[in-house]
Amino acid sequence: MKYKFDINKVPKSIGIIMDGNGRYATMRGLSRKNGHKAGAERLVKIAEYCERIGVKNLTVYAFSTENWKRPKTEVMGLMSLLANYLKNWESYIGGTEIRIRVIGDISDFDPAIKAAISYVEKMTEKKKGLSVNIALGYGGRNEIVSATKKIVEDVKNGVISPKDITEDKFSEYLYTNDIPDPDLVIRTAGELRLSNFLIWQSSYSEFWFTEKLWPEFMEEDLQQAICDFQARKRKYGGLLEVDNKAEE
Ligand code: IPE
Ligand code: IPE
Ligand code: MG
Repeated sequence: MKYKFDINKVPKSIGIIMDGNGRYATMRGLSRKNGHKAGAERLVKIAEYCERIGVKNLTVYAFSTENWKRPKTEVMGLMSLLANYLKNWESYIGGTEIRIRVIGDISDFDPAIKAAISYVEKMTEKKKGLSVNIALGYGGRNEIVSATKKIVEDVKNGVISPKDITEDKFSEYLYTNDIPDPDLVIRTAGELRLSNFLIWQSSYSEFWFTEKLWPEFMEEDLQQAICDFQARKRKYGGLLEVDNKAEE
């Protein structure tokens, strides 16, 4: 560890672009679906670790609006994996205080998956610990456009007036409504881009990249990312450092 890990300064909100499942599978002669399975298993462990160290929100990119372009077999494989995890959520996180939420446009998802999402959200809504926000059918641009449409509707119906539209008000119309902006955004698998993930919310996030593929991303790697985060100075355009802890 390059710096000392300070348990009192753990970022409250973390975003992860979980990339590299396909490469992990190819390198091992596995099917892409089995790469995604290894990735899902890792997510459960990383979520448990986040819960233990006091992270409040973990927002993970699981299926983007652009991922619909993938071959049907891969999309179906991902969906069946998702359904399996949602239906059996108790065997994975049953004994914990982890809450599950989904953000994104799931209107094109199979009705059985939509039902499984509602079920897990309902079953875990009273949990007090970490909220795992799974971005599904999620795209940052789609999110901004859909927020704009809802605002226009509300202005038309007299619910709000144009002068009420501030940055904070706009944020309320996003899928992430009551989820704090990520302090730290991590991407695995050596790609240095956002790929449409939380583009509004990450305007002042700290970024951290690793060559490791998502199924190889260990708790120690997250701890290293947090250590590096803790050593950064966040100034938000000013001259003075703002304490990371102030970002609750
Ligand atoms: C990330 O892994 C998971 C999803 C996009 C669903 P990839 O499937 O993108 O893995 P690579 O980039 O092909 O290795
Ligand atoms: C981003 O990964 C989406 C998810 C991790 C769900 P991609 O693998 O789809 O991104 P690109 O295509 O490399 O930008
Ligand atoms: Mg990828």
